[in-house]
Amino acid sequence: MAEPTFRAPKGTRDILPPDSGRLRALIGEFARIAELSGFGEVVSPMFEDIGVFLRLGETTDVVTKEMFDFLDKGDPPQHFALRPELTASICRAYAEHRPVPPWKIWYEGPQFRYEQPQAGRYRQFTQVGVEVLGADDPQVDIDVIALGWEFYAALGLRQVELVINSMGDASSRPAYIDTLTAYLRDHRDELSAQSQVTLDRNPLRVLDSKRAEDQVVIDAAPSMVDHLNEECGEHFAVVRAGLDSLGIPYSMSPRLVRGFDYYTKTVFEFVGEALGGAQNAVGGGGRYDGLVEDLGGPATPGIGFALGVDRILLACDAEGVFAAPPPSVGVFVVDVTGGSHALDVCQRLRAGGVGADRAYGGRSMKAQMKVADRSGAPYAAIIGEDEVAAGEVTLRDLRGDSGQRRIALDDLVSDVRSLIQN
Ligand code: HAM
Repeated sequence: MAEPTFRAPKGTRDILPPDSGRLRALIGEFARIAELSGFGEVVSPMFEDIGVFLRLGETTDVVTKEMFDFLDKGDPPQHFALRPELTASICRAYAEHRPVPPWKIWYEGPQFRYEQPQAGRYRQFTQVGVEVLGADDPQVDIDVIALGWEFYAALGLRQVELVINSMGDASSRPAYIDTLTAYLRDHRDELSAQSQVTLDRNPLRVLDSKRAEDQVVIDAAPSMVDHLNEECGEHFAVVRAGLDSLGIPYSMSPRLVRGFDYYTKTVFEFVGEALGGAQNAVGGGGRYDGLVEDLGGPATPGIGFALGVDRILLACDAEGVFAAPPPSVGVFVVDVTGGSHALDVCQRLRAGGVGADRAYGGRSMKAQMKVADRSGAPYAAIIGEDEVAAGEVTLRDLRGDSGQRRIALDDLVSDVRSLIQN
């Protein structure tokens, strides 16, 4: 095949059938589970004023290195960015519309980050997620984490692990950061060059380093959960007790600090063990009790998560679960009389709720049967001169062993419907 003139941009992919059907089915399953728990969908813009995303953290990679930003054609131009995630947009929407709290919403859609692409890491990727705004009750944290857990289970995934931590709040974190900074400075020479730079910009994020040379220092670092104030400590204890009572297994990791600065109290990540490698976080989230206020809204607690659909599908491949849905064409119509009868028969089938497709170009029976086989349809309806004269079609079983039989055209829809239902 000749080299194409254009390719999809680096870090992006065309998702073709049947993978696109699988993606849609996954989003449908997420919508079903979220709506069963009282969440409603929010569809928000794919770009926002860049100021919305600057609130994710002035020192985070997403803001400093990975933003797809642009100036519009206004005079003066406005500075926008493609969304790298949806939590900030949802908080902006909350501040703008002031819905009655608690506001329980779910979302799905593409996010954009200028990352170095590799397996499971793209510049355009899809997330599904939920956010609950306006409730600081730790019961919400439990409900939200349980929803994510249940979703993976519904897909059939068995090798997902939950990791949790608490980031404290504005009153308990500064003292912890001072302690952590002092510790890391004492061990500065033992850290990688990159982590030494991170230490000066944002000491918490050193804990996030996956570099082998940093691990000894990180393992012995003071942990946030030992520095929580009474309220944050109690909140975290209720969350853990709730997960225990639901039988959801988790491990605690003092190193889980997440990639944005907005987190407070509970943070969590879902790890796809079957994925191996560095890109094994299949989802993550946490509480962000100051973000709405940061965006100019009223003081409003919030918690949510986003799950990486592309990585979840890779995890499904690795575990051999959640196959692509079967093709929706039930009958492939093979018309060897020229093609106009196929038009009529397809219309009848579709009007009766049966998926139907056909070949074009007046091709031979053999050629059309090949296309029928490739379509994945379980049945072919064959129309030749004899059938037309008798007002019938020949219905052939393409998957099973019930052969073929002639049936009246008027019975086709009802016969096929009952065959497909069985
Ligand atoms: P995040 O951890 O940045 O959190 O992203 C959530 C998930 O999106 C990740 O666990 C991963 O599965 C997927 N993901 C992230 N970056 C990429 C990428 N470049 N390629 C493929 N998949 C990726 C958030 O986005 C927060 N908004 C989550 C949240 C919601 N926190 C509170 N509410």
